[in-house]
Amino acid sequence: MKLLDKSTMPVLGQGTWGMGENPASEEKEIKALRHGINNGLYLIDTAEMYGNGGAELVVGQAIKDFNRKDLYIISKVYPHNAGRNNIFTACENSLDRLGTDYLDMYLLHWRGSIPLQETVECMEELVKLGKIKGWGVSNFDTDDMKELWQIKDGQNCLLNQVLYHLGSRGIEFDLLPWMKENKVATMAYCPIAQGGRLRRGLLDNPAVNEVAKKHSISQTQVLLAFVLNQENLIAIPKASSINHIDENIATLNVKLDSEDIALLNEHYPAPNHKTFLDIV
Ligand SMILES: NC(=O)c1ccc[n+]([C@@H]2O[C@H](COP(=O)([O-])OP(=O)(O)OC[C@H]3O[C@@H](n4cnc5c(N)ncnc54)[C@H](OP(=O)(O)O)[C@@H]3O)[C@@H](O)[C@H]2O)c1
Repeated sequence: MKLLDKSTMPVLGQGTWGMGENPASEEKEIKALRHGINNGLYLIDTAEMYGNGGAELVVGQAIKDFNRKDLYIISKVYPHNAGRNNIFTACENSLDRLGTDYLDMYLLHWRGSIPLQETVECMEELVKLGKIKGWGVSNFDTDDMKELWQIKDGQNCLLNQVLYHLGSRGIEFDLLPWMKENKVATMAYCPIAQGGRLRRGLLDNPAVNEVAKKHSISQTQVLLAFVLNQENLIAIPKASSINHIDENIATLNVKLDSEDIALLNEHYPAPNHKTFLDIV
């Protein structure tokens, strides 16, 4: 079975978008990432795009005193670098910034103009070279996944990272079922809707408030629990403060019951038709 093994792949990791952009915040970001790792969040998601390489540098600082094999590091290649001319250098640059000699997972950040077949061939070569352990994609909708599945070695894709939160449930209609059927892991980005900023009113919603009150948790934790309570989904909230990290870890113990889900469904219903993939 190709589905990522949940015994080695945690359901909760750490995002890094926005890190490495401001030298004054870097120490805090490094501390937060280290605190997360020390408390079980050993999966870190980053990208060459974030902070123009700055996030990878921050991650490199954060992980340097840990045993590399205890970590799961994901980075992403820009679409314009995802072809034979640039991907090998782009990957090497990411490895240099991260201070490591391999990535656990390398993702195509989103689809660009380079043919998928070429990207897949390069990803497979990177695996053979030992630069990456596996590869996946990001922001791929159902049709993109179906196209990938027709390409030679396309079915070696291990993961699709897509936007998913309580206020944006479009993938439940056809992408999530397709991913489950084809045993590809789904990684939810923006699982807390960027602290509620992506959907007006989400954190003040009466259903979210009621569930938060019932479980004595914050509204943000309700959003994260909504994602974590689902099978075959990995959430990668970004948190640059120790308090937020602790709160996110504590959410692993929150079990939403059918009453909670029914209430949340009333306000944010599951989709009953196809919608285009939400992206940021
Ligand atoms: N593949 C893609 O195209 C793509 C796109 C977007 C994101 N991503 C990845 O997914 C990760 C997560 O997405 P995101 O960073 O955009 O959004 P997010 O994780 O939904 O939200 C991050 C925001 O929530 C705040 N936060 C974290 N924990 C909190 C808590 N317990 N209570 C209240 N606020 C909390 C953070 O504040 P502080 O930082 O102040 O703690 C930050 O402002 C990214 O960092 C990135 O790694 C991938």
